Amino acid sequence: MPRINSPAELEKFRKDILSKRDPNRPCVAVCTGTGCLALGAAKVVTALKEEIKKQGLATKVDVVDVRETGCPGFCERGPLVVIYPEETCYLQVQPGDAEEIVSQTILAKKVIDRLVYVDPITGEKIVRESEIPFYKNQMRHLIGNNIKIDPKSIDDYLAVGGYSALAKALCQVTPEQVVGLVKDSNLRGRGGAGFPTGRKWEFTRNSPEKTKYVIVNADEGDPGAFMDRALLEGNPHSVLEGLTIGAYAIGAHEGYFYVRQEYPLAVENVTIAIRKAEDYGFLGKNILGSGFDFTVKVRWGAGAFVCGEETALLMSLEGKAGEPRARPPYPAVKGLWGKPTNINNVETWANVPLIINNGAGFLTSIGTEGSKGTKIFSLVGKVNNTGLVEVPMGITLRDIVYKVGGGIPGGKKFKAVQTGGPSGGCIPEKYLDIEVDFDELKKVGAIMGSGGMIVMDEDTCMVDVARYFLNFLTGESCGKCSPCREGIRQMLKILTNISKGKGREGDIELLEELSEATRDASLCALGGSAPNPVLSTIRYFRDEYEAHIKEKRCPAYVCKELISYHIDPDKCQACMICLRKCPAEAIAGDKNQIHVIDQDKCTKCGTCFEVCPSRFGAVRRLSGEPLPPPIPEEARIIVRKSKG
Ligand SMILES: Cc1cc2nc3c(=O)[nH]c(=O)nc-3n(C[C@H](O)[C@H](O)[C@H](O)COP(=O)(O)O)c2cc1C
Ligand code: FES
Repeated sequence: MPRINSPAELEKFRKDILSKRDPNRPCVAVCTGTGCLALGAAKVVTALKEEIKKQGLATKVDVVDVRETGCPGFCERGPLVVIYPEETCYLQVQPGDAEEIVSQTILAKKVIDRLVYVDPITGEKIVRESEIPFYKNQMRHLIGNNIKIDPKSIDDYLAVGGYSALAKALCQVTPEQVVGLVKDSNLRGRGGAGFPTGRKWEFTRNSPEKTKYVIVNADEGDPGAFMDRALLEGNPHSVLEGLTIGAYAIGAHEGYFYVRQEYPLAVENVTIAIRKAEDYGFLGKNILGSGFDFTVKVRWGAGAFVCGEETALLMSLEGKAGEPRARPPYPAVKGLWGKPTNINNVETWANVPLIINNGAGFLTSIGTEGSKGTKIFSLVGKVNNTGLVEVPMGITLRDIVYKVGGGIPGGKKFKAVQTGGPSGGCIPEKYLDIEVDFDELKKVGAIMGSGGMIVMDEDTCMVDVARYFLNFLTGESCGKCSPCREGIRQMLKILTNISKGKGREGDIELLEELSEATRDASLCALGGSAPNPVLSTIRYFRDEYEAHIKEKRCPAYVCKELISYHIDPDKCQACMICLRKCPAEAIAGDKNQIHVIDQDKCTKCGTCFEVCPSRFGAVRRLSGEPLPPPIPEEARIIVRKSKG
């Protein structure tokens, strides 16, 4: 095992690695991130390796590599395979495709048409990964390397320039200069609050205490968010390198990764990364001959959303119940075991090597006045291309939804985008052209949060959206302070009543009042920001609340207690399709009898509405209006004309 003792040795070692790697040698990169693994990527890897052997390529040394990589973001179309050096990108690859991939693409250099991306609008086939619109409109400084390296291989990380920033920081720059660089870059924390990173480092650094800690916050509890997981699974050394540089700047000699236990692959890859970094001398005593010592441990969180809040995280790390405590004192003054502690988000740490390698100007050249660099979002919901996207700060929401996301599926109308996770807000269509940065999102009642982004179409009920998030937060509130514990629960009660048609005049005002009290009096930002989904939906979609309360109508036909399905006897052709598909067996009729829905059995799943052929359009959704009276049995008989 090489122990690298100086920056010169590191560069020599890197040269050695590169000299053994021919950039023109074929390499099949298979995403084995959690998303693609769930879609069967492991079997694809096995099939490719077997085919390579079978077709005689494994008998010659190093003819073709199979690289198991982290997530490049387009999980929806996984398992994803990229073949280098041509950068041919194949989507939804199955084990059965392996034979052709090897014989056609690797050996005969031919593209397999059925596996490439097809532009849904132009029908054009796009072969190269970087030319697929989903990727083309991104700026992938942080996740771009995920498909280029095997996260379990430190040599792969070194081959793309890894640990050069650490060598530079430790051996060419003073800790104060590192803090200065991060301050000059205007990097703001990616975990939610957007606090300036350099200033936070300075607080901890300036503490006279000898023992200090640095922590990677990888709790990531927002439903649907997986930015941090993808970085830790796909490029753990980049976060570790950033953490070690931060420790040097701050004067800490011990660090922790706090990772939620639902992320086993992230824990595995981070643990391997730490072990390899120790072996190579990037952790431990006298790192790269600089005299700086630093050790890192991994700790599992139990998966409570509140444990992402920094003071609750510290309690959890100390083995206590994960409940927040009042600030001040801030962790920078009194953190882990009472010592000054600097906590940053995974993505924040991953930005640090970029700043050290390329200078503060690298970050300040990207973004808006107040928000610099790129941001990774987890783009989900009613959008054609879902997945992880890394975009420059300042990009418009419209560009994210339409250029990167490819627009709304099924020709539906855009309604809103929810940013910032459960404590975020819903932004309506009129603000689609705002620039995405910390301050602009706040102005319209949302937040950047850690990067959750849910796109909603016309079929989304905004009362139901607020209810969904408050339901999540009710379960996640630790219960320590009553404004949060009771405030969120009461708001949920009102929202549930509204969505069940039991809303009363004055409920909207009561929700606003409760929101204010919960926001102002809660102990931590969980309660402090919990009203955001309520307030933003009331602000932009008040008419929907009023329709639910006054007319007992759900305009999006989502709230089950407020809708019903009815088969129009004048349009029903007794085709039996809805009857056969109804999972609740709630539809009666036969080939010669108009179908009727038994309202007592109907679960309002909407299957009948979806399957009724559009040329008939016989199934109607009703909301806010009474059901037509049942038709008499004899009127249900359809007399069909005999053929000929
Ligand atoms: C309820 C709640 C959950 C949070 N969850 C996370 C999280 O999962 N990851 C994270 O980095 N920050 C989370 N935060 C923010 C942290 O408290 C803290 O601000 C952040 O880790 C600081 O890192 P940064 O400056 O790099 O953003 C959460 C905050 C709250 C109130
Ligand atoms: S897990 Fe494979 S593309 Fe995301």
